[in-house]
Amino acid sequence: METIRGRTSHELNFNELAERLADYNHLLLDLGTGDGRYVCRMAEQHQDRFFIGLDACRENVRANSQRTLQNALFVIANAQALPQELNGLISHVTINFPWGSLLESLLVGDPALMNGLSCISCLNAGIEIHLNGGALTEAGTTLEAGAEKIYHNMLRSGWQVNAPMAMNASALRNFPSTWAKRLAFGRDPRAMMMSGCFK
Ligand SMILES: C[S@@+](CC[C@H](N)C(=O)[O-])C[C@H]1O[C@@H](n2cnc3c(N)ncnc32)[C@H](O)[C@@H]1O
Repeated sequence: METIRGRTSHELNFNELAERLADYNHLLLDLGTGDGRYVCRMAEQHQDRFFIGLDACRENVRANSQRTLQNALFVIANAQALPQELNGLISHVTINFPWGSLLESLLVGDPALMNGLSCISCLNAGIEIHLNGGALTEAGTTLEAGAEKIYHNMLRSGWQVNAPMAMNASALRNFPSTWAKRLAFGRDPRAMMMSGCFK
């Protein structure tokens, strides 16, 4: 799979990945990681866990992927074609404030995304999805209706998730991702979250 560090790409093979992961029992994937701030923060706070930030856009991850964190890695891939190297390894998935084709795939229950998520996840893997009102409005729906659709698509795909809950302003402000901060201090700070696990 293609990994990135600043401006440098590297094709990481199974053996190299296994070496990087050898000391870790928990592997977390942040899908649509954006600038990767969430991954860096989590990797600093939980040094016994390994964090992978994945995004389709290499420009977004460039700056933070340069940081030297033993337990973090940045991958360039489409969420609809997740790297097979990750199959069965992931113990927790986060999807924070998706937009574009990632959000679209969640809304329609795109098999390319849903099957990929099932493949990379180990049994009982956790998942957290944070959604924001502006992105869902742009996608032609509302925060509530979009969150409800995604909730049902996740259930249909084998994820036992709880019903979406509203995130209040302080939860958004304290959430350690760049997009959460932008939303919290922007014009439309409405957001919802759901969490659960893979059965
Ligand atoms: C609004 S940003 C959120 C970034 C980050 N999660 C945060 O909370 O700050 C959405 C990200 O999803 C990524 N994205 C959209 N569609 C994608 C896809 N199909 N595969 C991978 N990443 C995607 C975009 O490149 C963008 O970086």
